[in-house]
Amino acid sequence: MILVTGGAGFIGSNFVLDWLAQSNEGIINLDKLTYAGNLQNLSSLTGDPRHIFVQGDIGDTQLVSQLLEQYQPRAIINLAAESHVDRSILGPEDFIQTNILGTFRLLEAVRAYWVELESDTKQDFRFLHVSTDEVYGSLTLNEPAFTEEHRYQPNSPYSASKASSDHLVRAYHHTYDLPVLTTNCSNNYGPFQFPEKLIPLMIVNALADKALPIYGDGQQIRDWLYVTDHCSAIRRTLEAGIPGETYNIGGWNEKPNIEIVQTICTLLEEFYPDRAFHNLVTYVKDRPGHDRRYAINALRIERDLNWKPTETFATGIRKTIQWYLDNQQWINDVQTGAYREWIEKNYTELEQ
Ligand code: NAD
Ligand code: DAU
Repeated sequence: MILVTGGAGFIGSNFVLDWLAQSNEGIINLDKLTYAGNLQNLSSLTGDPRHIFVQGDIGDTQLVSQLLEQYQPRAIINLAAESHVDRSILGPEDFIQTNILGTFRLLEAVRAYWVELESDTKQDFRFLHVSTDEVYGSLTLNEPAFTEEHRYQPNSPYSASKASSDHLVRAYHHTYDLPVLTTNCSNNYGPFQFPEKLIPLMIVNALADKALPIYGDGQQIRDWLYVTDHCSAIRRTLEAGIPGETYNIGGWNEKPNIEIVQTICTLLEEFYPDRAFHNLVTYVKDRPGHDRRYAINALRIERDLNWKPTETFATGIRKTIQWYLDNQQWINDVQTGAYREWIEKNYTELEQ
């Protein structure tokens, strides 16, 4: 089995669904179910014995140790985190707790488990830490894309907390030989993304005829990757990555925010020809400390692990919009908070 943390979040639930669609190896899914965790994302797995959901905190050493002992996973994929930059600016505390302290406690519990493994299992064990390109800081328009050797220069409480966790993971390899892998990925988009992030927020607001808030001048650049491409990159890194190595993951797909929002409006107008979504675009005050540009050089993972994204932005954004149009009940449940009640109702069913 493998143990996935944060498997009820956006990337986590896509990863769990994708994994179980490709393999019969079971997953223990440890998730605290913060506001960002949504078990509805995993409703198609209800009754599937390959998925064991456990509500809990990566920082709960006793619980994590007990799960490791009980299920003896061959790998950990650490996706659990507080992930939204704007929330980290309003209240950084949770980011420090989960992303730094939580990762530290998880590493400690995993180390205690790993040292006791038999030599073959011990050698094959992996701790894969999912991180972000934001740890590298901000690029100017003409600078080359981030390589794995780029200096760490995080600018928000979120990216600083992720950078700290990356350093801890690195130190556990260097000091204790724990077989770790770190991936630093660019901006993801796709099904099940909580509508606080740019792409789902714009789709959901547009459908509700609400303003589409563009921070500052809208010329900030992000490098977009369709979420299932991120999932395949994580799988490939787990399979063939070299312990102690880091791998940048990206879509070779840099776009300014305003272009993303205009594309969403244009595509939505194909579905609703009588509506003028472009008129909803509204420039608002900029995000404090807003990073200007991220760009990933993903040549190492392409060359060493033979991984490349399969979606282009044109195909991925169309699929994403179609998914939100087909899942308006999911949107509604997230907006009304009904997804939290659903958790209560279904939790006992999903927990083994
Ligand atoms: P998300 O906010 O959608 O999901 C995070 C999940 O972690 C939620 O289900 C939440 O309940 C869970 N969680 C939070 N604190 C926890 C704790 N203490 N213990 C156990 N579970 C906890 O985030 P996401 O967008 O799916 O991101 C997943 C990971 O990928 C994060 O580590 C993030 O930093 C990283 N990442 C995200 C992106 C992106 O564009 N979304 C890009 C690169 C890297
Ligand atoms: O780069 C990877 C990171 O991408 C991940 O590590 C983070 O977890 C993830 O949240 C994301 O961070 P960003 O800050 O880049 O994503 P967000 O969707 O919040 O914003 C994308 C861009 O859009 C950013 O420049 C801010 C801008 N924006 C965002 C929102 C929510 C707006 O202009 N208006 C908005 O309302």
